[in-house]
Amino acid sequence: APMTQDELKTLVGQAALQYVRPGEVVGVGTGSTVNKFIDALAGMKDQIAGAVSSSEASTQRLQALGITVLDANSVPSLGVYIDGADEIDGQGYMVKGGGAALTREKIVAALARQFVCIADASKLVAALGAFPLPVEVIPMAAGQITRRFADLGGHAQLRLKDGQPLVTDNGQHILDVHGLQITDPLAFESEVNQWPGVVTVGVFAHQKAQVCLLGTADGVRTLT
Ligand code: A5P
Repeated sequence: APMTQDELKTLVGQAALQYVRPGEVVGVGTGSTVNKFIDALAGMKDQIAGAVSSSEASTQRLQALGITVLDANSVPSLGVYIDGADEIDGQGYMVKGGGAALTREKIVAALARQFVCIADASKLVAALGAFPLPVEVIPMAAGQITRRFADLGGHAQLRLKDGQPLVTDNGQHILDVHGLQITDPLAFESEVNQWPGVVTVGVFAHQKAQVCLLGTADGVRTLT
């Protein structure tokens, strides 16, 4: 039988262990694919120096499995950061933030020498933008940021949870921007980063993936 999406996530979550070096602190992302990685990492917990986590959700999962979670300020750098993506292109540029953890994900990614993206094959795209772009914003700036995206042809929607604005781990809101075509991810990220009230834009171009482990019907494909 063909592998399910869940099985593909397990496959790449386990494959990512090859990038974890004994004695090091590991950067850990957020999401259903990373959860598979965390489960696999539990098997090496006595060989690593701990983890730096990108969300409350991942922290809870790591700690429940007996993996020590360290403060991001306690480590000068990380060897590797392992995380999923909502979209990844052939150059390693990504859209992230479907799980609302994009700000801490970008912070931990920036600490790491190598970003290893783990994803099932459905995440690979020719160009970014079909997945609505998550942008974490300071609530009082949401209106002006929405108008700026409209000028670029995008339609921003405030992300809700149980009928109320979703509040991130950082106490802010998320806009999901539909209808963008992100042809130059580096320039796009730089531009949106300049807008007052933008906390983090979900384009990861300056913090792109150096390696992508893609789960396919034929097994794990390594894209570099
Ligand atoms: C979390 O904010 C996101 O950036 C995730 O990395 C992304 O949504 C991928 O999640 P899944 O592994 O659940 O698809």
